[in-house]
Amino acid sequence: MGSIQITPSILNADFGRLGEEVARIGSADWVHVDVMDNHFVPNLTFGPTMVEALTRSTDVPLDAHLMIEDADSNALAYVEAGCGSVTFHVEAAKAPVRLAREIRAHGARAAMALKPATPVDPYEDLLPELDMLLVMTVEPGFGGQKFLDLCLPKIRRARELMDKHGVETWLQVDGGVSLETIERCAEAGADVFVAGSAVYSADDPDRMVAELRARAEAATA
Ligand code: DX5
Ligand code: ZN
Repeated sequence: MGSIQITPSILNADFGRLGEEVARIGSADWVHVDVMDNHFVPNLTFGPTMVEALTRSTDVPLDAHLMIEDADSNALAYVEAGCGSVTFHVEAAKAPVRLAREIRAHGARAAMALKPATPVDPYEDLLPELDMLLVMTVEPGFGGQKFLDLCLPKIRRARELMDKHGVETWLQVDGGVSLETIERCAEAGADVFVAGSAVYSADDPDRMVAELRARAEAATA
């Protein structure tokens, strides 16, 4: 397991002043950027031009979470926009191995996401191709949803498979992660934590990042 990382999602930040919003989370390890196309999920957010502008507003690296159809044709635009990590959904990728290799070859970390109903076992052999696996803990599309405890066994299983293969793949969770739920995720084996509404509804978002980190670290100590 890698060290604990907190990756706040700006989905619930004020889109009218994103530059200032990312400046409020200076201690975050990554800024999690939710890219939605209104097809893979029923919501629409940013494209590569916006993401490229965001890279110029912060020194924190960007972690793009692509909730888009046809990930194969569109993912590299986010590497070129300057994201340090690009996550595609396996449900939207026609050739996930090729796509992961292309993302790496272009210089970003390659990550693959699983929706709550997608099992991890069929993808065991892909783990060495991935720098991070994202286990969604809500149905993707919106911030502020309730954490799905039914995903915890999959987090545990993913961690077992990573240990079995001896890979250094990070294990990220996304959806409903808060001070109340982060310990469960950390105990199950997650090491990278997305938190959207928990961070941006706090009076001091950066302090919330620190509190989430402390709680996850305590749960795995
Ligand atoms: C949901 C997004 C999440 C979302 C998390 O589809 O992938 O990153 O912003 O928001 P919270 O933490 O509020 O569930
Ligand atoms: Zn996300």
